[in-house]
Amino acid sequence: MGGLTSSTIGRKYAMALSAMFLLIFLIMHLAVNFLSVISADVFNEASHFMGNNPLIQFLMQPVLLVAVLFHFVMGFILEIKNKKARPVGYAVNGASANSTWMSRNMIISGAVILAFLALHLYQFWLPTISKNYFDGAITGTDYDHMKGKFSELWTVVAYVIAFVLLGLHLAHGFQSSFQSIGARHPQYTPAIKAIGNWYSVLIPAGFIFVALFHFLT
Ligand code: HEM
Repeated sequence: MGGLTSSTIGRKYAMALSAMFLLIFLIMHLAVNFLSVISADVFNEASHFMGNNPLIQFLMQPVLLVAVLFHFVMGFILEIKNKKARPVGYAVNGASANSTWMSRNMIISGAVILAFLALHLYQFWLPTISKNYFDGAITGTDYDHMKGKFSELWTVVAYVIAFVLLGLHLAHGFQSSFQSIGARHPQYTPAIKAIGNWYSVLIPAGFIFVALFHFLT
């Protein structure tokens, strides 16, 4: 990755750029999924469009998967480097005075989100890939498939837990990504923090709503 990722500043910058890309993806992903609450037909159409548009399939989807992988690998590298920089860790009492629980536990919330993604891609993405490229059998529409998954209590519980941790991850990550690219300003920083707080509540709440809606209806 050359110069950008060979210093701590460079790594943080690259981490922040991948984070910002994922922040935008989450808004779009929620918007498409929210259509399923409004109308099965509209959701199926949107889903069909996303699944068949070459620009999305062969440009945006690979870029997204690289961004997810990059964010995850870089997160681990930064965590290990940070641990090496202070091998004894924070003194227990000093830690809460100097940083929030969320900021100290990005690696834990991140690991839970990663576990969720493995389950999620297995449940939702793999069937599409296998249908499109490997003649895999998938019965019913995308909407039926989603409804089927969210009729399982364990899936809904696992997803809701993951979405709560996603909220905690975003609560620190949103504003942190702006700090890492150097956007620090007495006037804008409070606004970025406020938008980050709203974002980290509304996006996970939206996903929770979609999952519960399909479980209950
Ligand atoms: C109620 C919550 C959610 C629903 C109903 C949902 C639904 C879906 C569906 C239907 C697909 C398959 C798209 C395809 O056929 O290619 C998909 C893919 C994906 N989802 Fe989700 N999703 C949810 C939450 C999330 C969250 C919270 C994340 C990230 C933290 C996420 C990340 C992804 C990724 C990375 C893909 C693969 C890329 C893509 O095809 O767009 N999803 N999701």
